[in-house]
Amino acid sequence: MDATSQTRFRGLAWTIAVLGLVFVGIQFLRPELTNPPVTAELQAPPEVMQVLKGSCYSCHSNETKLPWFDEVVPAYWIVTSDVMEARRHMNFSEMGRLPVAQQRGFLFEAVNMIQLGAMPLPAYTKVHPNAVVKPEQLAVLRNYLSGPPAPDAARTAQAAMKATADAAADNAEYGKWIQSSGPATNVQPEFNGVGFLPDYKNWKAISSTDRFDNHTMREILANDVAVKAIAENHINPWPDGSAFAKVTWVQPAPDEKGVVKAGRFVQTELMIKDSQKYSATEGWGWGRWRGMDLKPYGKDAAFQNECTSCHEPVAKNDYVYTMPLRGQQ
Ligand code: HEC
Ligand code: HEC
Repeated sequence: MDATSQTRFRGLAWTIAVLGLVFVGIQFLRPELTNPPVTAELQAPPEVMQVLKGSCYSCHSNETKLPWFDEVVPAYWIVTSDVMEARRHMNFSEMGRLPVAQQRGFLFEAVNMIQLGAMPLPAYTKVHPNAVVKPEQLAVLRNYLSGPPAPDAARTAQAAMKATADAAADNAEYGKWIQSSGPATNVQPEFNGVGFLPDYKNWKAISSTDRFDNHTMREILANDVAVKAIAENHINPWPDGSAFAKVTWVQPAPDEKGVVKAGRFVQTELMIKDSQKYSATEGWGWGRWRGMDLKPYGKDAAFQNECTSCHEPVAKNDYVYTMPLRGQQ
């Protein structure tokens, strides 16, 4: 080695040593990730629990177990913040205290997210391939949700029959809602300034989520600009002026006598594309109006963070979950 390469080598060795020390040093910067007690675990059959424990519990429960490579900073930082965030949204260790119908509601949303490939988080499954939910495991969850809600079998079987009978009436009522011409009067804009578009009722239905659990029915509608974009396959990004509505309609769980009440309109949500105006919220204006009187959902403009963070897993699809097939019009 001549003198210059010796100096270079020294420099390199120092750099590596310093980086190594920094790496060791930052290992001590650890936000604490604790497992609070499991107070009220979700109530579901063992085969369902097995799927959730294998794929979701590392983030959505108080029984987080990290493999060694997640204990190493900076992976630890990412996982910790995911776990905190995930628990805030849905915690299987604490949802047992909710009414059974509501627990099933969470599971329904869970199945939806799995089917859409949004959960477990794709960034997570890349490193933890075992967490991917296999098709036969997804079938276990769907199967469970399509059965009558436990535990009182006689009462619920009766309720399930009633629910089927009611579904037709419910659909008719839904049809009326969709078609009713008089837009609800005086609908206030959302707290972020996004205004309600009563015309959404005339948009094209591009998808309706199947109601295999007999509780919720959602319809996704797209306006002319979006429908044209679908036909021309210009959907990523969606052109300005595209708009989607998601209408949610609930069939409430049977009451204590096993009687199913008539279906109930829950809410309409809108996404309106304007890449300039709404650049701060991923290019979309977000709004949610609840109840027959269509009350804005937000308390202040911060509500829209809920929308963008839940749509974040489909950022690659310009934040739109529903992927209509081309030509399906
Ligand atoms: C690596 C951690 C991680 C894993 C594993 C994971 N999730 Fe999540 N999940 C999150 C985070 C973070 C959020 C909240 C923000 C978001 O949606 O990106 C979330 C949100 C959700 C939501 C939205 C809840 C709501 O109502 O706001 C559902 C549903 C969900 N996850 C289902 C699942 C299911 C089902 C599994 C297992 C198949 C799973 N997740 C596995 C991190 C995770
Ligand atoms: C718990 C996660 C979650 C949250 C929070 C959420 N969404 Fe969504 N959203 C979804 C999913 C999943 C879909 C796909 C359709 C379905 O299965 O219901 C969707 C679909 C939509 C659609 C139809 C277009 C599309 O992306 O498919 C609109 C419009 C919409 N959401 C608006 C909103 C608004 C406005 C908010 C906030 C007030 C919001 N969403 C909050 C999960 C969420």
